[in-house]
Order: sequence, then structure tokens, then C-alpha cells
Amino acid sequence: MTARQQEADARPLLEIRDLTVEFPAPVGGWTPVVQRVSFTLGQGESVALVGESGSGKTVTSLAVMGLTGVTGGRVAAGSVSFDGRELTSLPEREWRALRGPGMGMIFQQPIRSLNPAYTVGDQIAESVRRHLGLNRRAARARAIEMLDLVQIPRAAERVDDYPHAFSGGMCQRVMIAMVMACNPRLLIADEPTTALDVTVQERILRLLRDLQEQTGVSLLFVSHDLAVVAELCQKVTVMYAGEVVEQGTAADVFFRPGHPYTSGLLAAIPKPGLGTGRRLATIPGSIPAPGLWPEGCRFHLRCPHREPGRCDSVRPDLVPAGPSAQARCLRVSEIDLQGVTVA
Ligand SMILES: Nc1ncnc2c1ncn2[C@@H]1O[C@H](COP(=O)(O)OP(=O)(O)O)[C@@H](O)[C@H]1O
Ligand SMILES: [Mg+2]
Repeated sequence: MTARQQEADARPLLEIRDLTVEFPAPVGGWTPVVQRVSFTLGQGESVALVGESGSGKTVTSLAVMGLTGVTGGRVAAGSVSFDGRELTSLPEREWRALRGPGMGMIFQQPIRSLNPAYTVGDQIAESVRRHLGLNRRAARARAIEMLDLVQIPRAAERVDDYPHAFSGGMCQRVMIAMVMACNPRLLIADEPTTALDVTVQERILRLLRDLQEQTGVSLLFVSHDLAVVAELCQKVTVMYAGEVVEQGTAADVFFRPGHPYTSGLLAAIPKPGLGTGRRLATIPGSIPAPGLWPEGCRFHLRCPHREPGRCDSVRPDLVPAGPSAQARCLRVSEIDLQGVTVA
């Protein structure tokens, strides 16, 4: 472990402890959708939140941004602390000062986050005027500087274009520019490349990595795609059915997964040279909806290693599963799972 890593772990920028988020149930009352989620993110670190669609990644991210209420949910338990400050009880007035210079978020569909009626330059400028108090001229200069930083060619001209004049990949760059313009300490990227084709995806990932090096911003990278995560993140938190099922350093989790779900996700990563005709291994079945989580291990119905009479009745805890990893599996010391080597 490097000195920098030790420092990042000792005083995390973001610390989530036992976070539970609920939404109104159709029959009345509340249904937990994310349950007792804990992980930390150090200064300058990049941490991945991975899992199939519906596992609770976006709900977790929105809770970090203080946006749970806006989506109709509530944080029912747990804590989110940012730079030592508790966020779950933060008044909305203070949130407005924290979003922007503190943390910003980009989404899967960048075009939907941009206003079609304003030039991209005006939208970035408006954001920095509001959050940083820059005057009109300085804000425009900042907009051009940011478009340049996210490697949009001819930034000084493109600043006056409207969002529809940009491709999907370029729109995502504009969104990144808008968020980074306020110098946030934490960038949350929720499936930022999922809607883009593979070559564009590569370029956006490289951009995020460059930005991290240049600015030291911490990154919470949300993705259903473990292959993407391997390139970018030092630590991984794997979610399934609203809970963390495995977490640790990327090297550990990829090379020696401790949970059958993680190894199932790893088996589904396309491998170069296998040819396109071959079907990838996918995990049979589908993720159970909130409120329909089974007894015992939530993954047991889909698990090739399940032990009847045990995995269907005993709730597993997160237990050590490697030098720096933990897994929520009763059979962690009994089964041998297939990992992958990350370059
Ligand atoms: N506003 C909401 N109201 C009710 N249920 C929601 C809401 N947002 C998300 N959910 C439910 O929470 C679960 C997790 O969703 P989400 O966090 O979006 O998953 P992921 O981002 O991992 O694909 C899903 O079952 C989803 O239907
Ligand atoms: Mg999502």
C-alpha cells in the first residue's frame, strides 16, 4: 500500500455508513431499496460502484448528492459524511452551497441534463456565476477554459453552440466541463459512457483519468460494466439487490473475487480475441425487485454455489475475503471462484 493510499484511507473525503434508502410502497408504508450500504472514498481516489441494473447504484449516488427527497424517497437510516460533515441532516440552504464547489454529478444521458434553449457556454457560465460569483466576462472565459480542458476542439468557437450541435460524446464532455468548472472535490459519474459507442466510451474514460491527474478530483464511478471499472478505479464496491455484496481493491476483487455474483459479472466481460460469434456467459435469472428479496442470501436463487438449507435461510454478513476485500457469502472459504487478471 502506498503512502498516498494510506492517507486516503485514514481520512476519507466521503464516508457512507449503513445507508438505508426507502421509497413509498404501493400498498402503503415504505420499502427499502438500498440497505445498510457502507463504503469510503479517499481524497483523490477513484471508487467504482458496480452491479446490474436495478441493484441500487443510482439511488445510493443520489443520496450522496442529497437528492433522495426530490425523487420521492427518504434516507431512513445511516450516515453520509463529506469531509467530516454529516450530510443526511444538512438543511437545503447549505446543500445549495455544497453542490457545485463540493460535489457534482454527471448522468447517462448528457443531452437531457443540458438545456436546449441556451448555448453551452451560457450554461457553464451561469453555473460558475451562481456558485463561484464570477462576473459575466470571467464566467465566459472560464467556460472556454473548461471546454478546452475537456478537449473539445475549437473551444472558443464551440462555446456559442447549442447542445443539439454536439454529438453524444461531446455532450458528455460539456457536462463534465460544467461540473468541473466549479472545482468540485468529488465527481460522481453515473454510467457516463453507457449511452455512447465503444470508441467514444474509451475517450471519455481517458478524459476522466486525465482530469483526475490534473485536478486531483475524487471520483465515484458508477457502472454496470466491470471491464470499464478495471481501467479507472482503485477500489470497487459491488452491489446486488440493494446491498453491498463485495468490496475491496480492484486488484483483489478482480483477481480473486470472493462472491459468486462478482465472479459471474467477471465471466460476462468480453475477452479480446474470442470473436464476436461466441455468446458470453451471463448470470441466469434476474435481480429481484425491492420488496421481493428472498430469505437468506439475496443472490442464492441465481447462485451456482448455493447450499440448500443454508444459503436460503441464513443472512450472510460481509466477511474478509482476501487481503483487502470483503464478501457477503456464507461459503466464502469453501468455494474457489474464477477471477481475471487486470493489466
Ligand atoms: N423514485 C423511485 N421510486 C421508487 N423506486 C425507485 C425509485 N428510484 C429507484 N427505485 C428502485 O430502486 C431500485 C434501484 O434502482 P437504481 O438505484 O436506479 O438501480 P441502478 O442504478 O443500480 O440500476 C430499483 O428497483 C428501482 O426500481
Ligand atoms: Mg442507475
